[in-house]
Parts: sequence; structure tokens; C-alpha cells
Amino acid sequence: MVIAIDGPAGAGKSTVARGVADALGFTYLDSGAMYRSVALAVLRAGVDPDDGEQVATIARGLELELDGDRVLVGGEDVGAEIRSPEVSATASRVSVHPGVRAALVERQRGLIAAGRYVAEGRDIGTVVSPDSPLKVYLVAGDAERARRRAAQTGEPVAGVLAAIGERDTRDRERAHGALRAAEDAVELDTTEISATEVVARVVELARERGLA
Ligand code: DC
Repeated sequence: MVIAIDGPAGAGKSTVARGVADALGFTYLDSGAMYRSVALAVLRAGVDPDDGEQVATIARGLELELDGDRVLVGGEDVGAEIRSPEVSATASRVSVHPGVRAALVERQRGLIAAGRYVAEGRDIGTVVSPDSPLKVYLVAGDAERARRRAAQTGEPVAGVLAAIGERDTRDRERAHGALRAAEDAVELDTTEISATEVVARVVELARERGLA
């Protein structure tokens, strides 16, 4: 079973999904880390991120392990490396390919079937788990999202604003698994409310629905 937390970059998905998982004793799943791991492997292999066939082959064969907050590719901890601006931009490019999405969605469904999860991403409520009993779609103003990302990575806000704008457009416009709210998602705007308040609201929704 999964509580789905979807939304664009910088909307607060990671903080909220982690907080909700901690509060309810569920397992946190960062699906973006999976796309980022594929991107890293593609960059390391010198493969063209726009070559859907080759990238899907890498995605299918990737030895990927998500262990709490650690992300292991072939046993190597890549947690820091997958957060670089280059990997962020490449993750958005590799994630348009249907073969890549199919490979990762299958892995995500396998994990979710085996426990109680809070999963964050772009398509958890629409594609990975359309039957999820609680879907949350987080949004926030562009300037605030850029400010949050810049604070995490130390890059200038203006550059981050442009980069996430580009990423959002690609994530929203792709043919498969596009970023959008499920019809039955609860939309929360996090621009002016603290992560603590958003976590409390989601936990309350989970309790109201008898999930915890
Ligand atoms: O959530 P994130 O910023 O770590 O995600 C990185 C990229 O991965 C994002 O630009 C699009 C892709 N992604 C996706 O296509 N589907 C998901 N469920 C999660 C992430």
C-alpha cells in the first residue's frame, strides 16, 4: 500500500514524504532517486541520454538498491552524486523514454506491494499506483521552489529557477507518466506553510482514511 506524494521540483515532496513516513512508521520511497541513478549510469557510460533504446537497456540492467536514505548503484553509494545539477537535468531527459519508465515503474510496484510506503515522484498517483488510498499533489510558487532548491545545492537562485522551469516543462509534456495531479488527489500549496504543517495535514488525512 502506498501514500502517493506527487508534484514538481521544489514543491516539498521529499521533506513531506519523509516526515509522513516517519510519523506513520511507513517506508519512504524516493522514485526520483531511481531516475537519477539511471541518469548517472548513462552519463558514466557515455551514452546519449536521448537514445531511448540504449538508456532503457541501462535502466533494465541497473543494480539498484534503496536502503533507507542510501542509494546504491552496483553496491556504490551514489547519494551525493545523483543530486548534482548535471544529473538533475539528465534525469529529466532519460525519464521521457517509455522503456525507462516501464522498467522503473515495475520495480516501484514490486516494492510497494510488499509493505506500507510513502512514495514521492511525478506519476505515483496516476501510473505507479492509481489505486492508492491517499494521493497528495504538492505545489508551490516558482520563486519559492527555486529558493528551496538553491538553498539545498548552493547554486544561484536565478540559474535554479531557469533549470527547474525547463525540467517542469519536460516532465509535464512527456507522453508517458507526465507530471499531473490524479483526479482524486488532494492538492496542497506549500508556498506559505511550513513542512511541519503539511506533514501534519497529510498524517491527519491518512488517519481519517483509516490508513494508520
Ligand atoms: O524528484 P526528483 O527531482 O529527484 O526527480 C528527478 C527527475 O526524475 C525529474 O525531473 C523527473 C524524473 N522523475 C520521473 O519522471 N518520475 C518520477 N516518479 C520521479 C522522478
